[in-house]
Amino acid sequence: MKDAQPKTIYLKDYQEPDYWIDNTELSFDLGEEVTVVQSKLSLRLNENKTHGSLPPLVLDGTDQVLKQVLVDGKTIEPSQYELTDETLSLPVTQKAFIVEVTTEIKPQENTSLEGLYKSNGMFCTQCEAEGFRKITYYLDRPDVMAKFKTTIIADPQQYPVMLSNGNDIAKGERKDGKQWVTWEVPFKKPSYLFALVAGDLSNVTDKYTTCSGREITLKIFTEHKNIDKCDHAMTSLKKSMKWDEDVYGREYDLDIFMIVAVDHFNMGAMENKGLNIFNSSCVLAKPDTATDNAYQRIEAIVGHEYFHNWSGNRVTCRDWFQLSLKEGFTVFRDAEFSADMNSRPVKRIEDANFLRTAQFAEDAGPTAHPIRPDSYIEISNFYTLTVYEKGAEVVRMIHNIVGKEGFRKGSDLYFERHDGQAVTTEEFVKAMEDANQVDLTQFRRWYSQAGTPVITVMDQYDEDSQQYQLTIKQHCPATPGQTDKKPFHIPIAIGLLDPKGNGIALNDAGDTTQVLDVTEQQQTFIFKNIAQQPLPSLLRGFSAPVKVKYPYSRDQLLFLASHDSDGFNRWEAGQQLAVDILEELAEKARQSQSLTLDDRLIQAYRAVLQDEQLDPAVAAKMLALPSEGYLAEQAETIYPLAIHQAREFAKQQLAEALSEAWLAVYQRLQSDKAYQPTAADIAERSLKNTCLSYLSQLGEKQLALLEKQYQTATNMTDKYAALSCLVNAPAELAKPVAKTALADFYQRWQEDVQVMEQWLAVQANCSLPGAFEHILSLQEHEAFDIKNPNKIRSLIGQFAMNNAVHFHQETGAGYQLLADYIIKLNIVNPQIASRLLTPLTRWKRYGEPHQAQMKAELVRIRKQPELSKDVYEIVEKSLK
Ligand code: ARG
Ligand code: ZN
Repeated sequence: MKDAQPKTIYLKDYQEPDYWIDNTELSFDLGEEVTVVQSKLSLRLNENKTHGSLPPLVLDGTDQVLKQVLVDGKTIEPSQYELTDETLSLPVTQKAFIVEVTTEIKPQENTSLEGLYKSNGMFCTQCEAEGFRKITYYLDRPDVMAKFKTTIIADPQQYPVMLSNGNDIAKGERKDGKQWVTWEVPFKKPSYLFALVAGDLSNVTDKYTTCSGREITLKIFTEHKNIDKCDHAMTSLKKSMKWDEDVYGREYDLDIFMIVAVDHFNMGAMENKGLNIFNSSCVLAKPDTATDNAYQRIEAIVGHEYFHNWSGNRVTCRDWFQLSLKEGFTVFRDAEFSADMNSRPVKRIEDANFLRTAQFAEDAGPTAHPIRPDSYIEISNFYTLTVYEKGAEVVRMIHNIVGKEGFRKGSDLYFERHDGQAVTTEEFVKAMEDANQVDLTQFRRWYSQAGTPVITVMDQYDEDSQQYQLTIKQHCPATPGQTDKKPFHIPIAIGLLDPKGNGIALNDAGDTTQVLDVTEQQQTFIFKNIAQQPLPSLLRGFSAPVKVKYPYSRDQLLFLASHDSDGFNRWEAGQQLAVDILEELAEKARQSQSLTLDDRLIQAYRAVLQDEQLDPAVAAKMLALPSEGYLAEQAETIYPLAIHQAREFAKQQLAEALSEAWLAVYQRLQSDKAYQPTAADIAERSLKNTCLSYLSQLGEKQLALLEKQYQTATNMTDKYAALSCLVNAPAELAKPVAKTALADFYQRWQEDVQVMEQWLAVQANCSLPGAFEHILSLQEHEAFDIKNPNKIRSLIGQFAMNNAVHFHQETGAGYQLLADYIIKLNIVNPQIASRLLTPLTRWKRYGEPHQAQMKAELVRIRKQPELSKDVYEIVEKSLK
């Protein structure tokens, strides 16, 4: 942090820039010591704004050495410009002029992984949101859009492949033996979509013919050793291209589309125009090294980045407060793509579960913000679950309000009106309104109000009048800076079940699901001709990102879990039953009372295990207990150790009570088919491995089964599942077996970066006694590397997010370990440091001694000299 008090940026202060850039020409002379960057910008006064005299040109720039500045070909002396740590200001005398800047940077020393940096000897970039200013002085804001032409110059021995956005239009060799290539993009684009890659890379090439018959070249670049891991991403890319044509009528616009895999990357991937850059773990896969989860994540992220070409690149954001314009919409698009490619109900269950566990916690904490925030100190801190995941839920609600066809009309209008522009979320909502003649005035509050609304439902049945009424109240808890919330427009999909479990027709057409448009603080809905007292099924399909409170009895939940025609709500009823039971157990555990498991949970699980009609993917979800994270989010005051104990107890009891059923289903699902990442096969593996995880609780009895699956598995999904079960198996006898398996796994895959990430993660997640000391020792292991964000996430991130017993151990040592990393990474990589703060920001929700210890670590972090903006912002907000 260079200033004592980092500045807060406000949405209300937005102003257009004083100047536009029409053309940007860049040249990079890539060197081992220093990289020389030359830019030539054609600038023009923004005539939309009224200016007295010509304002100075203030360019953004940091972490570089300024060598030379020319304006219209004339050198500007240092006495004529003003240089600060963050800006370069130049005097302006003409309405249109050319600025040429030469700077030097050292990508090899850039550990922030923002701007231009090196990963395993390869040059690569990450510019979103404000990384371009680490490359050269520029108007680094998304509403400044220019045509880019980029020349890369490098030693052809070390960097035979040199890529940038668009099409390569010229290449040659210099007298000194260096090679150069020039790339050009025919569209205007903001600087955050700039990309450059140079290295010794292999590629896989394919073709795609678009709906209008144009042939597109597709290339995936990676280090030579990974060339056999690109096929799945390539298939996913072609599926994405087809899907966007079919569902949104959107065709790809350049002649070439490239993806590059890099090992050091702060996030998942980046949608740079024509040249997506991916975290290796989100693109590389082959059956014997990647799990089904990885396969599905790759498909989703390849889709996500590809879809950005329209929702993000062709139509981009005016300013970073509008981030959800592109991210919420694109997450919604990738979720629908995944649902179409795989199991729709399962995708919905996964997304709702994730939102409710992690985003709800964010909404209830000190960093809560609306999907369109009002202010920020460091924009990197706003690439959040709220902006992404809740943003996607808001788009989904619009989709449900206007219907599938209406949504397509709205998106067509949006793309047609705003192609080539940088706009706000308002333009998106307006297009939806105009195309459908709906009024979304009240709905817009979802963009400006933070917090998770709580819906309280009361019902009443009157036999005489045959009327049933639902009274719905909404309330949204206060969030930082927002004490009083106005009512939201909440679409609540409901159904009514008769005593036999059949859906009651709610209109003449016989529909059994109806959407209630809740817009008031309190509202009553009346249903006529209801012959008997019904049971409501609320928020079907998770139709809005809210919490629902209705006093279901456990028997009613059991009934819904087996009868609800809405797949999502059947799962949800089972979850609520489990939550209710686990909460009671956790409270007993906290008071050191003896525990017994309510038989209804066993009944519910037995019914699922015996139902051979059920989609195995859904069955696997129904047989998973709510996570410790979800239970923590539900709790008034969190006692993580009690939650863990309760959940372990329930797992154990379910394993024993249904031991034969677990084994029978496990055996039924054995197969020697060759691995395929199809929805059907993934579903069977997930059910089979769910059974295995219960069987692994049964002491020594099933140890041989685990060992056998570990040894004979022919794909990573089954091997990793067995390894994970072994590592977490409570039986004493399992320990040496687990140790041997971990060593074998390491032996076999130590050269494979992606597998080593998994190897670290499985150990970081182990909750058995003694695991913490082992995790500490892994820091010294050569498979770990503090400079690689994936390794940090696998070991430290997994530990802090998914290993509650050890992270929240009573000594406070878990918090200390995390804080030590935050302090180290604050210097090395502020973005990753800031992400790691998340679990500590929740300190107020925990019981003692956790609360005080977590807070103490935050205070220790705040005392560090030179806090990055990233860390400063989150720590400050958390301690308020
Ligand atoms: N736009 C990228 C995506 O597809 C993410 C960029 C994240 N940038 C950051 N500074 N965290 O979602
Ligand atoms: Zn995105």
